[in-house]
Amino acid sequence: MSSSMNLNRSLVAGVLSAGLAVMAGCEKPPVDSEQTGYRGTGMQDVDNPRIEAENAALHAAPEARESVSSEGPRAGEIYQNVEVLEDLSVAEFTRLMQSMTEWVAPEQGCTYCHDGKDFASEELYTYQVSRKMLQMTRDVNANWDTHMSDNGVTCYTCHRGENVPSETWFEEPSSPKTQVAAGLGNVQMQNMASDKPAYASLPRDAFERYLLGHEDLTVEGDTVLPTADWSKSLKGTEASYSLMMHMSDSIGGNCTTCHNTGRLGQWDESPVQREISWHGIRMTRDINVNYMLPLEGNQPEARLGPTGDIAKVNCATCHYGRQLPLNGTKMVEDYPGLIGDEDPNFDYMQFGDLGTEGLSGDNG
Ligand code: HEC
Ligand code: HEC
Ligand code: HEC
Ligand code: HEC
Repeated sequence: MSSSMNLNRSLVAGVLSAGLAVMAGCEKPPVDSEQTGYRGTGMQDVDNPRIEAENAALHAAPEARESVSSEGPRAGEIYQNVEVLEDLSVAEFTRLMQSMTEWVAPEQGCTYCHDGKDFASEELYTYQVSRKMLQMTRDVNANWDTHMSDNGVTCYTCHRGENVPSETWFEEPSSPKTQVAAGLGNVQMQNMASDKPAYASLPRDAFERYLLGHEDLTVEGDTVLPTADWSKSLKGTEASYSLMMHMSDSIGGNCTTCHNTGRLGQWDESPVQREISWHGIRMTRDINVNYMLPLEGNQPEARLGPTGDIAKVNCATCHYGRQLPLNGTKMVEDYPGLIGDEDPNFDYMQFGDLGTEGLSGDNG
């Protein structure tokens, strides 16, 4: 009897001290949250200061190189083989080459892209890729202010000091060998945890469908019951959801960053971030279809994915888990060579309608 009472007493003491330990841990809340919508809608942005401190270096923009004269002869007059940056002063051109080296090939230096004996040589594939990258960067900065306002991107936004950005994606074979071996047959791109839709078992081909192809992302009907021309399937809805998971993850947010989740489809109740993202989806299609795919043929084997495709861009390639890439630093302001001329005929609607061969085209 008394021994069991002792046991009880020590149990109570144990529970109490465990409770105190938990409360001590709660003194400082592990996450911060900020209300972004009406009370009761649960629209909150949640930040974790500990994780943010750990990733601070990744999200810090490097210092701009000291500015130089924009006077004097143009690069196009002095050098032999300049096709994109011909209007820069020689000093500005050299400054950009030095910055590109720091942003993309800090360990290898100029010869990552250049034949050291002949800087005009186009021999290295990295030189050819870089020229296309220059054109892409200038075009998105000039034409996609619907997504990026005048903030823009530099090579560093995506590369962060690495030869190939660490956040990219490849197309996937529809049934990985391991699944066939496990007797699962063709799993049709789903039912397998994958980092693509942020570790959910949702369809793994959301990027192929929506960030390269132009499939329609809407899933809500406007009538109570399906009608004859209603073409949305459950699988298409899941694929749409899969992209939504990626978008949330890649900006370090959640569904409520862009939606009132009580009414997901309503534009008039969605925060402005949703409209910005609508343009972001189209901008990403533009980058992948018009700049990444054309580079595919020239890539060394080691750079290609399991189905032989080139690494492509998604939301995380610029955002790296942050709502504002590089915490909103306007790096491009210091690099006039990276802002191209606005195209007077530019029409973002065309990127709602960009197909690629090999995509099913139907939404199921
Ligand atoms: C990431 C790739 C890359 C790196 C690194 C790089 N360059 Fe370049 N460089 C290019 C590209 C692409 C061009 C062509 C630009 C154009 O067509 O407007 C170019 C052109 C040049 C030219 C013009 C050559 C000619 O006669 O046509 C010079 C000079 C040059 N770079 C110097 C440098 C120096 C010096 C460094 C190192 C500090 C460097 N580059 C690092 C990609 C690179
Ligand atoms: C929107 C994101 C983005 C921007 C901005 C960007 N890049 Fe890239 N870059 C990529 C992706 C994705 C790849 C991988 C594709 C591949 O394998 O070639 C890549 C590949 C490269 C490669 C090939 C490296 C290798 O080892 O295979 C070079 C060189 C390069 N970029 C240079 C540049 C330069 C220079 C700039 C700025 C003028 C730039 N990039 C801007 C996304 C970007
Ligand atoms: C970064 C912004 C963003 C985030 C985060 C986001 N969405 Fe979306 N969502 C959009 C945009 C933009 C569209 C419209 C896409 C289009 O039509 O091209 C959309 C469309 C949708 C639709 C289709 C609505 C219709 O009209 O049929 C649903 C459903 C949806 N989202 C659910 C979600 C869910 C669930 C989450 C969280 C897992 C989420 N979204 C996270 C931006 C976002
Ligand atoms: C080429 C780089 C790039 C890509 C790719 C990209 N973004 Fe962005 N995004 C930016 C930049 C830069 C800004 C900052 C613009 C500003 O400060 O006004 C931004 C801003 C945003 C914002 C607004 C943040 C705020 O609160 O003001 C959202 C939301 C967003 N992006 C979502 C997305 C989604 C979703 C995708 C993929 C479909 C995507 N982005 C792809 C570069 C990119």
